[in-house]
Amino acid sequence: MKILTLGAAGFIGSHLTHRLLQEGHAVVAVDLTIEKVAEYLDHPNLTFLQQDIRRPEWDLDGLAQDADLVIDLIAYANPGLYLRIPLEVFRLNFTENLKIAEACVRHGKRLIQFSTCEVYGRTAASLPNARVADPEDPIHGTFSEDTSEYILGPVSKHRWIYSCAKQLLERVLHAYGLEQGFNYTIIRPFNFIGPKIDFLPQSKQDIPRVFSFFMDALLNGTPMKLVNGGVSRRCYTYIDDAVECTYRIVQNSGGICDRQIFNIGSPDNEVSIRQMAETMREIYAAQFLDEPAPLPEIVSVPGEEFYGEGYDDSDRRIPNIAKARRLLGWEPRWNFRDALEATMRYYVTESQKNRVSSAAGNG
Ligand code: UGA
Repeated sequence: MKILTLGAAGFIGSHLTHRLLQEGHAVVAVDLTIEKVAEYLDHPNLTFLQQDIRRPEWDLDGLAQDADLVIDLIAYANPGLYLRIPLEVFRLNFTENLKIAEACVRHGKRLIQFSTCEVYGRTAASLPNARVADPEDPIHGTFSEDTSEYILGPVSKHRWIYSCAKQLLERVLHAYGLEQGFNYTIIRPFNFIGPKIDFLPQSKQDIPRVFSFFMDALLNGTPMKLVNGGVSRRCYTYIDDAVECTYRIVQNSGGICDRQIFNIGSPDNEVSIRQMAETMREIYAAQFLDEPAPLPEIVSVPGEEFYGEGYDDSDRRIPNIAKARRLLGWEPRWNFRDALEATMRYYVTESQKNRVSSAAGNG
């Protein structure tokens, strides 16, 4: 197939692009940056266009018309940005992505749209007046694509603008499907983790996801900060599992994914953010330190101090993956500890390479 991949050089996009090339597809890849796909740039089946899709001059219609399938991964997906630039988060995640979807509608192309597990918001059990017998029962934190209700905070908690923008985009795709037979598949990733996730923060302006903050703290011996005590829980999904599932959606055998939404996640890999910090410290000491050394302390900071005014959080989100199991025969293989260790190994190796090259530069 000829596949137009938008956002191809992000974390998920770079791994997916690699897989699509391995499978023999011709990939037209669009992204702002090239670093994460630099190693494949010479591949004969890859055409890479370095492009900000918000600029008017790019040929969206021509590229969509020319493709057999469009995959859209373009997003601002870091909570720090939802607080700092909420309007731009809305514009990119809704307005610009809608243009891509509408180009697919115009040209009758199938679209795989990456959305987010953030659409589910908070759990009912977390509400102040919740009356549930056992609030710890995983059933209260488990979300299903076609039946779960969504609970978001008030407008003043503007973290949720991202969730709303993505939800609205999903609803518009669904409406195009209903009214015009548009063929789409929506993917809701549940905290994918792996090499090339985000970036290590270099300045106060950089707000990547939690893994990168913790990794940076371990490498530099600075405190690992738990936002609001690190009680929120996430299910971490290794990128290889995620790409395997996504590739089955690309294949779409017998049209089984047409107009479907899929959770992609590892329900068995649930941890609190505090457990994640503790596990990363343990792995770092056991696998990556040559001799015993003091490890960073783990401290708690208020959410509004860490991120700024308007912060709120998903308390818990466990994917129900019955649909992916049933329709795609997919099963996640990676447990949390191995996924974390493989991701950490990548960053430890990268930082060693950087140290060697800057020492050579200074010498
Ligand atoms: C983000 C995006 O909003 C989702 O769209 C996306 O699907 C998801 O990442 C993902 O990777 O799949 P979130 O899990 O909230 O969601 O992202 P993180 O920034 O990694 O935050 C996770 C938790 O760690 C939050 O409770 C946050 O408050 C906490 N945190 C973050 C810390 O305790 N310390 C830090 O240094 C940073």
